[in-house]
Amino acid sequence: MNVASDIGLLHEFIASLRGRVARIAFVPTMGNLHNGHLALVNQALETADAVIVSIFVNPTQFAAHEDLDTYPRTLEADLTALESAGVDLVFTPTASEIYPEGGEVHTKIHVPKLGDELCGKDRPGHFDGVCTVIYRLFQIITPDLAIFGEKDLQQLLILEKMVSDLSLPVEIQSGATHRAEDGLALSSRNQYLSQSERAIAPTLWQTLQQCVRAISEPTAEPFQSAQLSACRSLEEAGFTVDYLELRTLSALSQTDSLIEDCALFAAARLGTTRLIDNIQIRRN
Ligand code: PAF
Repeated sequence: MNVASDIGLLHEFIASLRGRVARIAFVPTMGNLHNGHLALVNQALETADAVIVSIFVNPTQFAAHEDLDTYPRTLEADLTALESAGVDLVFTPTASEIYPEGGEVHTKIHVPKLGDELCGKDRPGHFDGVCTVIYRLFQIITPDLAIFGEKDLQQLLILEKMVSDLSLPVEIQSGATHRAEDGLALSSRNQYLSQSERAIAPTLWQTLQQCVRAISEPTAEPFQSAQLSACRSLEEAGFTVDYLELRTLSALSQTDSLIEDCALFAAARLGTTRLIDNIQIRRN
């Protein structure tokens, strides 16, 4: 496995890969890899002839008060895991390699509406940072396909829209959310949870499931009442709910019925840790 932290060396490795293989998959990450990331890597290995992974804690997607400085960085362990998985090339750029003049003055990509809803409301500018770094990484790496997890479903929908609007020559694939045995969606931020918060955390997934059951049954409850009970259960368990909403997958529009493909999205805080999760509800 080759590792490059500068673009010049990365391009040498990519040129050599391109000489040997037809289809290159890319899995962008911020490191601190868990089994959810490794499942995306395995999906990439099954789908393409070579796999490139990036490890970059992207400063432009963090607000000033967020956890950029404390975000877990475990480069050695990540490289060991990627090497065992069979990854071909890892890109570990510095911030100045990605944003030579600084992130604050770099051209930004904004996906209106999709990027302003849900987490976009609670974290203004977050998705601009995500789109900007992914666009930049796509330009540097020129992958044939890229894989993103469904755990960050809003991010996935926004990036699909960016690729479509800008006619970027890359196929986007999604990978299923990986969960701990008790249902908690795997996330690098789970390690911020105290022992008692960790015990409560799976309630988020259980509550989402309960809410979807309540609105899907033949004697379905109206969404507003199921939403109210779900928020109440989460608050009683110790969460502060940022949002719990049913949105269409096509435009992230608010809905209260299941007449088109949609997803129940939630973000809720336990202490200082913000957890997100979702359930997709497809018509067929
Ligand atoms: O989902 C993440 O880990 C990040 O948002 C991503 C897509 C790697 C961009 O920094």
